[in-house]
Amino acid sequence: MALSWSHSVLFVKNMCEMREFYTRVLGFQVTDEGSIPGNKNIVFLSQQPNEHHQLGLIGPRENEGPPTTLAHFAFRVESMAELRDVIGRVENEGLNYRPTSHGNTWSIYFQDPEGNGIEIFHNTPWHVQQPQGKVWDTSLSDQELFAWTERTFQNEPLFGPRENYEEDRRKKLSSN
Ligand SMILES: [Fe+2]
Repeated sequence: MALSWSHSVLFVKNMCEMREFYTRVLGFQVTDEGSIPGNKNIVFLSQQPNEHHQLGLIGPRENEGPPTTLAHFAFRVESMAELRDVIGRVENEGLNYRPTSHGNTWSIYFQDPEGNGIEIFHNTPWHVQQPQGKVWDTSLSDQELFAWTERTFQNEPLFGPRENYEEDRRKKLSSN
């Protein structure tokens, strides 16, 4: 099993200011944005064609909590076998985890011993407009999971092959 760094997602107080800082000053492009449960918005930012987001911003963050600005950080694995290996390790530790597919990933979410959120995911072969997420059944075979994922997300906006999306992102980044 090998984990590659992918992204962090932060809770922010002032979305406009933070978005402006990361785009204007640090050169990120907004790849997607939208509302998520809890009356919040999420903005995804990236400067790499093969990372849908290197940074996510969720806001507004209430002053009274959560006690950290970190929503989660995320690592990618390169195969379903590795993702299932991670799931086995997490289960052996007796940790609770949440399997969520964003259509472009099969992810699991859990917490480290100090309550920091961690996502570990394997990419699906597809891109689909974000944000979105559905619980996936970890007992499905790889083949069943593929079929379920395609069926579940194929009617969502911008559903299509990952290669096409990355090619499009590459063009947008080079014209920046
Ligand atoms: Fe994530």
